[in-house]
Amino acid sequence: MPPSTTNPIPPSLPLTLIVATTPIRVASSSTTVTTHAQNDTNTRLGIGLKGTLPWPRIKADMSFFARVTSRPPVKGTTNAIIMGRKTYDSVPKHLRPLGKRISVVITRDQTGSVREGVLQELEARKAKLAATAKAKAEQAVESATTSMTTSEAEVEPATDAIVTPSLDDALEQLDCTYGVEGRLGKVFVIGGAEIYGASLRGGSVGLQKRPIRIVMTNVVRKPFGEDGKVVEEPFECDTFFPEDQFTVEKGWRSASSEEVTEWVGEEVTGEWKREGDVEVQMVGFEKLK
Ligand SMILES: NC(=O)c1ccc[n+]([C@@H]2O[C@H](COP(=O)([O-])OP(=O)(O)OC[C@H]3O[C@@H](n4cnc5c(N)ncnc54)[C@H](OP(=O)(O)O)[C@@H]3O)[C@@H](O)[C@H]2O)c1
Repeated sequence: MPPSTTNPIPPSLPLTLIVATTPIRVASSSTTVTTHAQNDTNTRLGIGLKGTLPWPRIKADMSFFARVTSRPPVKGTTNAIIMGRKTYDSVPKHLRPLGKRISVVITRDQTGSVREGVLQELEARKAKLAATAKAKAEQAVESATTSMTTSEAEVEPATDAIVTPSLDDALEQLDCTYGVEGRLGKVFVIGGAEIYGASLRGGSVGLQKRPIRIVMTNVVRKPFGEDGKVVEEPFECDTFFPEDQFTVEKGWRSASSEEVTEWVGEEVTGEWKREGDVEVQMVGFEKLK
């Protein structure tokens, strides 16, 4: 696709990687995943297992992800969520493409079958969302409530999908469609490991000069033992975030809770919160220029 010449997405628009990770001790000489401390270990950040998340549903993280990625910065805009084809496939069929966001699916498929599948699911999802909106509007009229006015409904974020062969093309397509019309909100990369890797490697034209941020949910499993004491039980993982240290030496800085709050549009305290056997904490990092 030729580069757009009018109103491109400003290069200052940050690219935000949003990810949930869990620390895993890995033998430093191999990629063997261990579930207990060893002398010769590194800690890596696990993100996936067998094509899905390593942990059962964590409501606090899933609702955070849903709110943050779907809430547009300005009325009339829609956020984009860029993902690898495997991450798209890991979303439950009835929920994809995710509503009120532009799903951008990256694939090497040249047969057109991935595109066809995604676009078919998009049509089905749009029809379902339209039917739900219509039923809600009818209900509001019947009960004489005006919970949503027509103009409010019109500026709801769009539900859309784009299938593309690379991250650069993804940014270019967002630019040419939503960007030029001023309808593009925030741009998130939602995984998996391959696409996080492509976003962090740099070298991509579309990423140059763009601030790169990470909004990370740290996840640890800490069930209470029989004696009432907390014991740490690592999750099993086979897919890892491409970076595991966010120090200045590695080219990163930690963002304050206030900054992360501003990035995501809701309060983030950085405190650990318990949900069942699991504790979660939201933090942020920004790549140094
Ligand atoms: N914890 C979290 O926050 C989180 C978030 C997202 C995903 N995950 C987990 O991560 C795992 C999936 O990650 P993954 O790394 O295996 O897969 P992925 O990054 O989601 O998708 C990989 C696919 O993307 C396409 N792709 C990758 N690089 C490409 C490139 N340079 N050019 C064109 N297409 C490219 C290819 O699709 P084709 O095969 O179609 O060519 C490739 O097979 C799952 O377990 C998922 O649950 C976790």
